[in-house]
Amino acid sequence: SQIKEVQFVKSSPRAKDCPKDDKPEFAIVGRSNVGKSSLINSLVRKKELALTSKKPGKTQLINHFLVNKSWYLVDLPGYGFAKAPDAAIMDWSAFTKGYFLNRETLVAVLLLIDASVPPQKIDLDCANWLGRNNIPLTFVFTKCDKVKGGKGTRPDENVRNFQELIDKNYRQQPPWIMTSSVTGFGRDELLLHMSQLRNF
Ligand code: GTP
Ligand code: MG
Repeated sequence: SQIKEVQFVKSSPRAKDCPKDDKPEFAIVGRSNVGKSSLINSLVRKKELALTSKKPGKTQLINHFLVNKSWYLVDLPGYGFAKAPDAAIMDWSAFTKGYFLNRETLVAVLLLIDASVPPQKIDLDCANWLGRNNIPLTFVFTKCDKVKGGKGTRPDENVRNFQELIDKNYRQQPPWIMTSSVTGFGRDELLLHMSQLRNF
């Protein structure tokens, strides 16, 4: 399940501009500052890789990274920074809707949730939107080094509360993984989880 090589493939302004969907892919989604870039860099053990998506304007793009020449990690624009908070998730989903609903090879969305803060409405909205649309989802809790119990088997209060607050409209309760990009905690579990979902 280890990552041997990663290549940046392209940045796409719309779903229809994405690379040909002939390989399994995972979309990395989450609020701005949740630790998206840090997680990608920690997974691929490259400090600078996700910086390619940090250039001004790139946040509006869908970035494809090819891993081991066989599957894609996809960096999507963060949400939660629009001026009108309630409009933010709608703007964001309008942009990415085409991608989520039409990408045949999407194995799962990795929805990043900051374990060091209480459940945020915008994250619940995002999780529930994905659930309603039957898009396979894994919760990846980030910054677990900052919470008591984040390294243990018993989930922290924020994590438990988040799971209680999401709608029960999933066919199956989404899997969840605790991580820290600072300590590397959860990295191997997440890589193994992704390889099991891909079937190789
Ligand atoms: P945007 O690119 O703005 O959308 O943010 P992002 O989701 O890519 O977050 P980024 O990886 O840039 O991390 C945001 C901040 O959180 C940085 O200061 C990171 O150092 C910090 N951070 C990220 N992951 C962790 C973690 O696992 N633990 C701790 N303690 N800090 C983290
Ligand atoms: Mg980033």
